[in-house]
Amino acid sequence: MTGTLRLGVNIDHVATVRNARGGDNPDPVRAAILAAEAGADGITAHLREDRRHISDDDIERLTKALTIPLNLEMAATDEMAAIALKARPHAACIVPEKREERTTEGGIDAAGQHNRLAPIVGALVKANIRVSMFIEPSKAQLDASKALGAPVVELHTGAYAHGAEGELERIRAAADYGASIGLEVHAGHGLTFDNVKPIAAIPQIKELNIGHFLIGEAIYIGLEASIRRMRALMDEARA
Ligand code: PXP
Repeated sequence: MTGTLRLGVNIDHVATVRNARGGDNPDPVRAAILAAEAGADGITAHLREDRRHISDDDIERLTKALTIPLNLEMAATDEMAAIALKARPHAACIVPEKREERTTEGGIDAAGQHNRLAPIVGALVKANIRVSMFIEPSKAQLDASKALGAPVVELHTGAYAHGAEGELERIRAAADYGASIGLEVHAGHGLTFDNVKPIAAIPQIKELNIGHFLIGEAIYIGLEASIRRMRALMDEARA
């Protein structure tokens, strides 16, 4: 069942809680191992330029400890590209990054920033890292991601999660178009137990990346139960 729609668990906010106090606890690597045991198909971690949650040491420890694929979320900068080329994660998701934002607001402008993105995407692809572009669900961004040579796109579901009108239709159309031009389609941001099913039911989508809600829910029911419930909802939607 897990082969049909993969669940990538984003563990950034375990590190957020750790960093609120400094020190070592709670450890995002321990959370990642537990997530794998609970049925996560991959682990996502965003090494932000300001290191506000995940640290360089976390990435190093994750690459050593994980038996499931690591998806490194990163800004398209030379510093991050060098880290990715050294760490060699299974995948790298290119995200826009602004220091003042709380979370990744909006997708990367693959269409408007082709020349800046091309060398970084090219270097990662050449190193056999599966590059995905975190984009708004639009044809222009899908075409631009394809033109960059990225094999994967992740459709931003933030607006959908905020209840924006017509957004589910936009995501459906983008998933269909993306798959038709040979892109592997993922989706994520703001997904919860209440809103995951319509996205999980879109047949072209191969992977969902979910973090903040799962870590928050773990406060009440534990991380394993939180992941298992999300997994079950995704499977129900797909069945
Ligand atoms: N996918 C990408 C590219 C993201 O930047 C994030 C947030 O870090 C997520 C998925 C997960 O979003 P959330 O934490 O809202 O589930």
